[in-house]
Amino acid sequence: MSSVSVLSTTSFRTATRPQNYIHLIARSYSGVTIANLRSSRGLNTNTSQWNYTSKRPITSTPQNQIKEYFPPPQTPGVKEVKSAWVHPVYNEDQMKNVAIAHREANNWSDWVALGMVRVFRWGMDFTTGYKHPEPGENLPERFRMTEKKWMNRFVFLETVAGVPGMVGGMLRHLRSLRRMKRDNGWIETLLEEAFNERMHLLTFLKLAEPGWFMRLMVLGAQGVFFNGFFVSYLISPRICHRFVGYLEEEAVITYTRAIEELEAGKLPEWESLEAPQIAVQYWQMPEGQRTMKDLLMYIRADEAKHREVNHTLGNLVQASDPNPYQTAYQNPVREHPSKGIENLKGTGWERKEIF
Ligand SMILES: [Fe+2]
Ligand SMILES: [Fe+2]
Repeated sequence: MSSVSVLSTTSFRTATRPQNYIHLIARSYSGVTIANLRSSRGLNTNTSQWNYTSKRPITSTPQNQIKEYFPPPQTPGVKEVKSAWVHPVYNEDQMKNVAIAHREANNWSDWVALGMVRVFRWGMDFTTGYKHPEPGENLPERFRMTEKKWMNRFVFLETVAGVPGMVGGMLRHLRSLRRMKRDNGWIETLLEEAFNERMHLLTFLKLAEPGWFMRLMVLGAQGVFFNGFFVSYLISPRICHRFVGYLEEEAVITYTRAIEELEAGKLPEWESLEAPQIAVQYWQMPEGQRTMKDLLMYIRADEAKHREVNHTLGNLVQASDPNPYQTAYQNPVREHPSKGIENLKGTGWERKEIF
């Protein structure tokens, strides 16, 4: 592609670098010229052979040390590596219709799942200094969310969000092997969810550079969360799916608030920011719908889908029901769960609505 965009990352840098640091990026998809302007040192110009997308650092690592985490494959003769899962196409109206929803806890297992999510949410808000204002409430300046703070939150949350689908899929795979029985299609949806969450993360990593502290937090969180979820899923997969359903309710809230702040002009850095190429390809984002706001709309819609899928799976008989998202139904007239978001149910499908 020949289009060239010029992005200023000044305010990101001022948060982590001396005040006299100015950073300009001239970007193209066929190559890149990076001009680092420091008032004390003059102009440095580097040219990279890689397809490059500008990074918004969430670290104190100097900009000139930022590397491309996953450059295109360098194997001779290889053009690209294709994915097994093609993302369903979402249209704009469907994405605008995505709304915050909450499934009422009906029994003790729902309360366990909801309680766990509330503890997680409180811990996350406390450690990252996040607080959402009540209507009409004016919070102190330290709670103001900047682009960098949002990005920190997104990156951390996505590294955690990719765990449950993989653990659930893995354990159902092992159960199928061990008991020599069919799985009835659950594994694929669970692994695809994990893949989708990882694509969210990889997309954000094209826009931001995590520092050592974030990496340490991610390492610790993964160690604890993977093992905790692994044991929990062995004990009660139903509670685990409910837990993920509630977690995804929170994800939809998080992305909705970020979109609202962007629309209210509180995140000026993102107003002219384009979605990276990896996102354009993955979500098949149409021309004219490739801004940062569009990207957040796509990701929020994915989270709403995870919310529906996990609440639905939490309503089913774990050992014997087929996966309603991988099923060909005898009655095509009756509405059924689908892979897209055309008939999204915020609180999930009840078992009697499906079978
Ligand atoms: Fe996600
Ligand atoms: Fe999710």
